[in-house]
Amino acid sequence: MKKTGVVALAALAAASLLPAAAAQTAPLRFCADPDNPPFSVEKPAPGQGRGLYVEVAERIAAHLGAQPQFTWWLTHYGKRAVRNTLLAKQCDAFVGLPNDRGYMGRQALLSKPFVRVGYALVVPAGVSVASLDDLRGRKVAVQFNTPPQLVLAQRDLAAVTFRTAEEALAAVGREADLAFVWGPLAGDYSRRNGGLKVVPVAGEGMQWEAVFAVRAEDAALKARLDAAIDALGAEIRTLAEKYGFPLAAPVPLTAAAPVMYAQAVATASDALPGHRNPYSGNREAIGEGRLEFNVHCSHCHAQNAQSAEQRVDLRRLRIRYADKWPEVALTTIRNGRSDKGMPTWKDALSAEKIDKILAFLETVQRDPN
Ligand code: HEC
Repeated sequence: MKKTGVVALAALAAASLLPAAAAQTAPLRFCADPDNPPFSVEKPAPGQGRGLYVEVAERIAAHLGAQPQFTWWLTHYGKRAVRNTLLAKQCDAFVGLPNDRGYMGRQALLSKPFVRVGYALVVPAGVSVASLDDLRGRKVAVQFNTPPQLVLAQRDLAAVTFRTAEEALAAVGREADLAFVWGPLAGDYSRRNGGLKVVPVAGEGMQWEAVFAVRAEDAALKARLDAAIDALGAEIRTLAEKYGFPLAAPVPLTAAAPVMYAQAVATASDALPGHRNPYSGNREAIGEGRLEFNVHCSHCHAQNAQSAEQRVDLRRLRIRYADKWPEVALTTIRNGRSDKGMPTWKDALSAEKIDKILAFLETVQRDPN
């Protein structure tokens, strides 16, 4: 866990030694996550791509007559990663932030969006799905603990749950009529298997647009990136298709998301989708997290989080929010819900302590039923 930080720092140091070969063109330095396929990968395995963000950044640099360089940094907590890299001038542009103006406030400018990613249905070619009603009476394969599972459960639609998205996809035409999974995987699967179509799903927590971020004073660079994104639109689409991203317009199947989930997801803007707590699974950190929890939280949430009262039972976070739960919990712990009696902790507890508490909470999550 600690080690990845050291590796990222080493990569950072190494990056500054690179430019020798690029003496003739100005460098354009991008910050990206070293381990976030299919978006960005520092050291791809044989047969694995370097990721859509990396390839888009390279095309854009080439278009601007610049030499692309990468500063690698894990983006478990997006804002902190942006502060430590872009805002600390370790790179010129951060690739792959959500298109949300409030995300970095006035410290960063966002480019135009260059790709949209999210969840999608994989349906047999003869089946038409234009609304939620079209899913009634059909069995939908989902990956356990993902937003699609939650969306279906909240509407009493029949889901068949699988451990992985790949298994859910393989069930189409067997145990299930269709699948509802992460778009890039859906796209890739339907390309390799005939007779299927991919329908991206719109709605709360279902789709994101990705942008570049630059420092607030770099308006000129933002303008150059925007122009490059416009000019390279077709090329970027081709790259996105190569990585299996479905590009059709999303169908609004989940328009009426229940309020609790919609609010929780809307406020969970600090973490980027799909990232990990650096202390996850670290026994020592989990022990420290439990201790902190029992000092600060247990008088409302019970010793070791074993609360008998459902409303404050933190063993139910994953059941409540599926794989959004770490983001929802992080946001709630940091900002509190003052109207509901949950205090704010971001000034009282360091980010590390909150991470350790989250690593502890991970160990007490219950499965549905
Ligand atoms: C003074 C009482 C109190 C203390 C102390 C407290 N909480 Fe809470 N917490 C609450 C209440 C009440 C709620 C439920 C808010 C609601 O209904 O939305 C809550 C909600 C939460 C939630 C969201 C639960 C959900 O299902 O959405 C998390 C996560 C959480 N608390 C974590 C913590 C952690 C971690 C600590 C210690 C650092 C802590 N709380 C300390 C009262 C407290």
